[in-house]
Amino acid sequence: MKKITIAIDGFSSGGKSTMAKELARKIGYIYIDTGAMYRAVTLYCLMNNLIKDNVINREKLKKEIDNIKIDFHLNPETQLPETYLNGKNVEKEIRGMEVSRNVSNISAIGFVRTAMVKQQQEFGKSKGVVMDGRDIGTVVFPDAELKIFMTAAPEIRARRRYEELTAKGEKVSFEEILENVKQRDHIDQTREESPLKQAKDAIVLDNSNMTKEEQNAWLMHQYLLALEK
Ligand code: DC
Repeated sequence: MKKITIAIDGFSSGGKSTMAKELARKIGYIYIDTGAMYRAVTLYCLMNNLIKDNVINREKLKKEIDNIKIDFHLNPETQLPETYLNGKNVEKEIRGMEVSRNVSNISAIGFVRTAMVKQQQEFGKSKGVVMDGRDIGTVVFPDAELKIFMTAAPEIRARRRYEELTAKGEKVSFEEILENVKQRDHIDQTREESPLKQAKDAIVLDNSNMTKEEQNAWLMHQYLLALEK
């Protein structure tokens, strides 16, 4: 059966990964969460004192970037992929507020992006991949057969993230999350290196008023159409 590359880009906390994971599971593709990769680099920096008082030690990070290896392994119980940083499962740690607060600045650094894009292209070289992020359809796989650009109002995205974090027991306020979402949108869209922007040939999905089931059905339909092309 023909295999294609599926690129899903969009704003943070927009539900990209939930939708992408579900499609990958149904059609037997590999799923790569590239945001998790930038989060893992950020966690590495926090653990190794490369970020102090919001200042990143770029020189040291540049020397160490090639030693930061990120992998994904399926959790046999949940059947969902989890993120590993240099062999250690960091899936939970990379989702916390401390990483969220610093990740936009880390992902704006050119040499960090170059290293991550290289790993991402390697993961997707045999096609049969669903990859989500900010620059997948524009930089990582500009020739992807199916490109989706997802968008939704910041308040709706912040509400979803708030519910996700409080369900996990994290003590956060809605205002703090909304601020973080807006700040990340701003940094993601205005940074010099690969800013978040819609690829010319991407199909836009505004999921503000859609259920998860509706989104999944919509994406499956787009996948089937892309296969026929
Ligand atoms: O999707 P996320 O919120 O987990 O992503 C975390 C951060 O990483 C986000 O602030 C933007 C950045 N990112 C990026 O610059 N490029 C990507 N391909 C994916 C994420």
